[in-house]
Amino acid sequence: MGTSNKEQVDRNKLPKHIAIIMDGNGRWAKKKGNERIFGHKNGVKAVRDTVEAAAELGISFLTLYAFSTENWNRPRTEIDALMSLLVSTLDSETKTLMDNNIRLITIGDMESLPSRVRSKMQRTTEKTSGNDGMRLVLALSYSSRWELLDAMKSLAKKIESGELTSRDLNCDLISNNLQTKDIPDPELLIRTSGEYRISNFLLWQIAYAELYFTDTLWPDFRKEDLYAAICNFQNRERRFGKISEQVIS
Ligand code: FPP
Repeated sequence: MGTSNKEQVDRNKLPKHIAIIMDGNGRWAKKKGNERIFGHKNGVKAVRDTVEAAAELGISFLTLYAFSTENWNRPRTEIDALMSLLVSTLDSETKTLMDNNIRLITIGDMESLPSRVRSKMQRTTEKTSGNDGMRLVLALSYSSRWELLDAMKSLAKKIESGELTSRDLNCDLISNNLQTKDIPDPELLIRTSGEYRISNFLLWQIAYAELYFTDTLWPDFRKEDLYAAICNFQNRERRFGKISEQVIS
């Protein structure tokens, strides 16, 4: 199948933060004549491969959109199965996180998760909190509008109490009141399964991100697909509103 994209990746021009909308588990399962949860189970294999590839390359932050606020509207059986899958994956993969010096972080409304999932997440984030390699950020019960609304409410409270005035508001203050306050903005956002949507994910943070869409369904996503996305990213010119001549030198 030709040469690997891994050799093509320029280690000096890696995106610091890659975010992924993992999509297509249900369609993958349906194509194989199986239940949707079969797709999610196989999605875990893609998660493992992607996390390993990103850590090996030296990516600093990898964010995975694992469960959105809107996903609570799915059938109860699918939600329950996804929650169990999260717990069992954390059980089986914590050792891998430790062995690879990966720190697990969560963003999202943890309060809305079933307590067994919440406490499992808490235990794993605590256990890995001393790891200083890649940060693996799981977005769980997350939506960007929820996060922005929450930030606005907390800033409004500070204004009401006189701690801040409206003149103090600026972009940094907003960034610092988001769930991602300690996480740099993603430089590369990947969405699988041939859908061209952002689906309420990191809307503030992706202001300058490069977007990469692939038809690959998430359970089929492997290391080579991540390398291909990074190579594609590295071949783009990022101008941040400037003109070409200003950024080339
Ligand atoms: C999107 O596919 C995928 C999800 C909503 C869940 C993602 C969860 C996993 C990959 C498993 C657990 C994850 C971790 C991090 C342990 P979809 O169901 O929307 O697929 P469809 O669009 O084809 O219906």
